[in-house]
Amino acid sequence: MDEIKSIEQRINEIKETVGSGRAISALSGGVDSSACTILAHRAIGSNLKSVFIDDGLMREKEPEQVREIFRDLGIEVDIIDTQDEFFQALKGKIDPEEKRKAFRSTFYTIFGREVLKSEAKFLVQGTIAADILETKGGIKTQHNILEQIGIDPEKGFGFKVVEPVKDLFKPQVREVAKELGLPEMIYGRMPFPGPGLATRVVGEVTPERVSLVRKATQIVEEEIESLKPFQAFAVLLSDKGTGVEEGKRKFGEIVIVRSVESKDAMTAEPTQVPWEILMKISKRMTGEIPEVVRVAYEITPKPPATIEYV
Ligand code: XMP
Repeated sequence: MDEIKSIEQRINEIKETVGSGRAISALSGGVDSSACTILAHRAIGSNLKSVFIDDGLMREKEPEQVREIFRDLGIEVDIIDTQDEFFQALKGKIDPEEKRKAFRSTFYTIFGREVLKSEAKFLVQGTIAADILETKGGIKTQHNILEQIGIDPEKGFGFKVVEPVKDLFKPQVREVAKELGLPEMIYGRMPFPGPGLATRVVGEVTPERVSLVRKATQIVEEEIESLKPFQAFAVLLSDKGTGVEEGKRKFGEIVIVRSVESKDAMTAEPTQVPWEILMKISKRMTGEIPEVVRVAYEITPKPPATIEYV
């Protein structure tokens, strides 16, 4: 097996590739893009532009946290508020695939705009080894940024993709991120899908429904965190359920709690969450989010279910 490159080697390779050119990195708050952004910043300093596209589908306070964490490390991140554009694109969409497509095309339109504005010729991307293997195996398509913004990389428009951790698997990227000084909140964080909370709202994605699932997710993360699951979150269903309040019937929202154990997300088992924790989640959910009348815990492995609902 090839020896794993040191951080110094990775930084030097970026320096050699980018030289005195300009590069852009899109941060998501996840470990891969965070590690790559720091490596690129160490290599080329202020010639790197770091952007965070705030799509309105992030977890509680995520954009602000990312800005603060990177500021502490000497990197200024431009937070681009594009929430309205995403909600507009998702409006009226119910079908999961349609929602994913609407998210993707909105993301790349916005990112493409930022790339052109920055005049960067190098795009720093957090591709990791699993992405490449999954693409080759036909499991998941690695989205090539250049193609997504309508530029064919083969034809050479002067753009080049820089992928500083593409030889590493997730646990190794977490190690690199830790060594680079990123806090545990980033290097130890659960996976979070690109389309964010849109994958956790069944039915139409509206600002109000996202806000509700964000609060519910926060409760799940806080209560299940000590169990260190692979992934834990809340899902908002599209059907309403019947509840009772002050002796009267009330129709309200149904929230599903999902927590899974997995190595690589290809298969997963439900976490055996202790009953007391589940009951605490249920009480907090209905107590802190008045719209919620029912809470259920999901017990389906993958397969046959996927981890996310959308
Ligand atoms: P599923 O739902 O397919 O999810 O069992 C497997 C893993 O992938 C994550 N996931 C995504 N990640 N963009 C991403 O970056 C996506 O569109 C996406 N969909 C699912 C999911 O959170 C889980 O870890």
